[in-house]
Amino acid sequence: MPALKSILLAALASTGLVAADGLNSRAKAAGKKYFGTEVSGQVLNDGSANAIAKNAEDFGQYTCENEMKFDATEPSRGTFSYGNADKIVAQAQANGQLMRCHALVWHSQVPSWVTNGRFDNATLISIMKNHIANVVGHYKGKCYAWDVVNEALNEDGSYRNSGSVWGSTIGPAFIPIAFAAAAAADPAAKLYYNDYNCDRPGAKSTGAQNLIKMVKAYGAPIHGMGLQGHLTTGQVGSASQYVSNMQAFANLGVDVAFTELDIATPSSSPNFGQQATDYATIVSACKQVSACVGITTWGFTDKYTWISNSAPLIWNTNLQKKPAYDAILNAWGSSSGGGTPTTTTSAPAATSSAPSGGCTAAHWAQCGGQGYTGCKTCEAPYKCTYGNDWYSQCL
Ligand SMILES: *[C@@H]1O[C@H](CO)[C@@H](O)[C@H](O)[C@H]1NC(C)=O
Repeated sequence: MPALKSILLAALASTGLVAADGLNSRAKAAGKKYFGTEVSGQVLNDGSANAIAKNAEDFGQYTCENEMKFDATEPSRGTFSYGNADKIVAQAQANGQLMRCHALVWHSQVPSWVTNGRFDNATLISIMKNHIANVVGHYKGKCYAWDVVNEALNEDGSYRNSGSVWGSTIGPAFIPIAFAAAAAADPAAKLYYNDYNCDRPGAKSTGAQNLIKMVKAYGAPIHGMGLQGHLTTGQVGSASQYVSNMQAFANLGVDVAFTELDIATPSSSPNFGQQATDYATIVSACKQVSACVGITTWGFTDKYTWISNSAPLIWNTNLQKKPAYDAILNAWGSSSGGGTPTTTTSAPAATSSAPSGGCTAAHWAQCGGQGYTGCKTCEAPYKCTYGNDWYSQCL
């Protein structure tokens, strides 16, 4: 039966009677930008797994697992290495898949020349800015989004100092400085803060909202909150708590995305039925919030997961679809655009630079936004350009 069904579907598809279908096609039909996956060099070297990753009906977006991190891209000071990441970006481009690029400033996977360098504040800031300028510059125009700062918060929502060379040397100021540097290197990329355990309302989620306000107060652009979504089967609960959490970020004028979704279940005694329900819950929550642009899973097959002794993903270790696959399709809704379309707030046109009090704002500076009282005219030849309701910038 399944064989006959797929032969019939293939025949119908070739006549154009059945639209191509998949996790990404359904997400787009529901009004989202993508459904995507983390991809690694390991996947690229595994032909069977990579065939799944290449299917743009399922995956409209890639995130590199390790290949763009600091230790991979600047293993020694001023020496940049992009070969492994370039291969992933090239495959994405060949298949029309977006890149969410990951991650510029994180306390982990930083090379020892940085962590053991005993650099003073000013030197470490210049090292960080140089890293961002080079890496973001190398991928300019190729990254739909960048995770600029990753995991800068403690569980209570305070800024992480201990164990972070950035936090302990520079203090929280490294965060807006990093966002400003990324914006300078690729003004078109969506710049995200990315963290775990911010998926539901709570102290850490509130801390992330405060971090976003802090970056804006400094005058740097921030466009998105990345909810990593490392969750556990049976502990996901209802969609409503994810909806209200995402809405709290949306109210700050940023997009939201699930960036590293996986839903752990022990490989020795898995509960794939509950796991399917839990995946559907997250998809349904994203579908309900117009600011949720998409979902990325942290890999797609249990063959390549970072979680030991767990089966958290959508394909099993033999690269067969698990119940989560159909649950995600159904949660997005019909492939023919029959799902409830999510409305997107359209951005007002760029405000032209009206004279105000004779002062001018410099290139890259803030020039408008709710609550902003500074100079609204940009120095020539830059124009005050709408970023979001809270932030316009001289570009
Ligand atoms: C490091 O320098 C930055 C930029 O001048 C400043 O904002 C920050 O507070 C400094 N950090 C420390 C720990 O002095």
